[in-house]
Amino acid sequence: MNALRPMIIGNWKMHGDTAALAEALEVAAGITGAAIRVGICPPATLVHRMAQDVAGTKLEVGGQDCRAESSGAYTGDISAPMLRDAGGSLVILGHSERRSGYGETDALVSTKVEAAFAAGLEPIVCVGETLQQREAGQALDVVRGQILGSLPDTIVGKPLAVAYEPVWAIGTGLTPTVPEVEAVHVSIRGVLVEKFGQDGARIPILYGGSVKPSNAAELLAAREVGGALVGGASLKSADFLKIIQSVA
Ligand code: 13P
Repeated sequence: MNALRPMIIGNWKMHGDTAALAEALEVAAGITGAAIRVGICPPATLVHRMAQDVAGTKLEVGGQDCRAESSGAYTGDISAPMLRDAGGSLVILGHSERRSGYGETDALVSTKVEAAFAAGLEPIVCVGETLQQREAGQALDVVRGQILGSLPDTIVGKPLAVAYEPVWAIGTGLTPTVPEVEAVHVSIRGVLVEKFGQDGARIPILYGGSVKPSNAAELLAAREVGGALVGGASLKSADFLKIIQSVA
């Protein structure tokens, strides 16, 4: 683990109803120490209620996406100020499920990052290659392009995290080896420092993709891994707390 304060963030994706809020309360009760930042990004329907339920604890709450515009005729979408108003402090942007399912481009993600900053939200910007791109030896180039295209110049001085999530590792039980994770994270750090100077050295780089209690310790100890973005294993507090406790 590097010197940055580690972040462990749960992405509930399209899972969870009001009964699942009990899981968040259990996580909140289990994280009294200040050494690690822990957050949960539930479905939009639960953001307000979860933020109210865990107010006064160390658990942070966020959204899984937002639109770049603040308001308007955009049926079905939610904006960054709406997430903030609901009590969110984080927002996941550019997740591969949105890039592939909704055609989100790097340029669009960049405008969403600006919107998040303007609303006072901390974006967690996701990047990662497909299996086909990895097998073609393009992983580092793909991720470099996504970083350069998805992060606006205005990040300087703003709170922001990057999450490396290889598409082929998401929800599959497959994970890259530790050297493979390190190669990408070290490369991302290089791109961040090249583009943003010392600000780029302070951006946490989370790993995501089939993180579970059994592999969290080795992934979280890898070079330039500043935390984890956890999908399936964040849905049950017992598993998520085990991952949180794996941070060395
Ligand atoms: P899994 O942990 O379920 O593989 O999901 C990872 C992810 O996409 C988190 O954003």
